[in-house]
Amino acid sequence: MNFQLSEEHLMIQSAARDFARNECLPGVIERDELQRFPKEQIMKLAELGFMGMMVDPQYGGSGMDTVSYVLAMEEISKIDASVSVCMSVNNSLVCWGLEAYGNEEQKQKYLTPLAQGTKDGDLYIGAFLLSEPEAGSDATSQRTTAEDKGDHYLLNGTKNWITNGSSASVYLVMAQTDEGKGSKGINAFIVEKNWPGVTVSAKENKLGIRGSDTHTIMFTDVVVPKENRIGEDGFGFKFAMKTLAGGRIGIASQALGIASGAFELAVKYSKERKAFGKEIMHHQAIQFKLADMATKVEAARLLCLKAAWEKDQGKDYTLSSSMAKVFSSETAMWTAIEAVQVHGGYGFVKEYHVERLMRDAKITQIYEGTSEVQRIVIGRAILQ
Ligand code: CAA
Repeated sequence: MNFQLSEEHLMIQSAARDFARNECLPGVIERDELQRFPKEQIMKLAELGFMGMMVDPQYGGSGMDTVSYVLAMEEISKIDASVSVCMSVNNSLVCWGLEAYGNEEQKQKYLTPLAQGTKDGDLYIGAFLLSEPEAGSDATSQRTTAEDKGDHYLLNGTKNWITNGSSASVYLVMAQTDEGKGSKGINAFIVEKNWPGVTVSAKENKLGIRGSDTHTIMFTDVVVPKENRIGEDGFGFKFAMKTLAGGRIGIASQALGIASGAFELAVKYSKERKAFGKEIMHHQAIQFKLADMATKVEAARLLCLKAAWEKDQGKDYTLSSSMAKVFSSETAMWTAIEAVQVHGGYGFVKEYHVERLMRDAKITQIYEGTSEVQRIVIGRAILQ
């Protein structure tokens, strides 16, 4: 066993750290306040090759491993989780899903520009459309329908809480083709946002990750060519589950970054702030908090890296990704609350960043499978 990162991993980590400090930190408070999508930052991430990190270079990607992805996600999420969720959805849910299960034409047409993050000089990213008003955790209860019309499908329905909702050019949409078949009647489709019948509704006004753009998307008689179905007929639910297993490594690393970002800010502040005649780091009440934060953050990091390593080794990572996600997201929430507490009154105001990290942490316990769903996955796996 070797806990040492390779030279290449260290370089990627350092590039992501520099990017976060130089490109994401300036304006992060304002973007959060104004709910402004970080388009400029995402375009620069694309230039760095971070929008299709794990995609084979023959499809426009950077050919890096999942460990590199975890390291980059952590660094960027320390500073701006709105940037990192956009990056995570494009990398894990869209590019990975297409590379693993798309056919050659789909990869040439869609994956290549998605992995590059740009097309014709403009942003080109994707979104993953599974959740519905009545199908969040209960994801098999899809109400969106895709009626088989011979050479095409007719898509109707509504998808909720869609990350990259208005910024994405391409949607991967799960829809029910044959209700009688339950989860085996679900298909996954590649849908272009500018096709007739696709409507992007107003942006959600959220507690956290306010820079990321989250929308409801509606489909009214959208004609989807047969060649845009991913995989065999009825593969859609398995496609969603398998893709989400990798997505959960991305969100676990996002949560890890929020937690380690909050921890680092708490350490810095406790070295500067004086109370009762000494820096507050010298008070045991603060030291114990910092010790617990450091321990939990390290445990979360190891779980994220183990899940990534299992994926890179071609092993089944369903269990390890759910463990990483539930532990990292709960660590993020707890650590961010404690970091606010260490900052006292300053923690409650925007310029110290920890209140934003606390708000951003919450969603990591909800999206890409709530903590309860992760426990279902873990419970089933250990009892198998
Ligand atoms: N890999 C492959 N197949 C899987 C699988 C996996 N990980 N998990 C389930 N399946 C298969 C099952 O084997 C079963 O197939 P068979 O009938 O052939 O055996 C089929 O899928 C149905 O599975 P279940 O009976 O286990 O389904 P369930 O209704 O009990 O649900 C669940 C299981 C784990 C709760 C699942 O519904 C789930 O993960 N829900 C959460 C959905 C989720 O994560 N949503 C996030 C939305 S995306 C998002 O947030 C993106 C964003 O914008 C940030």
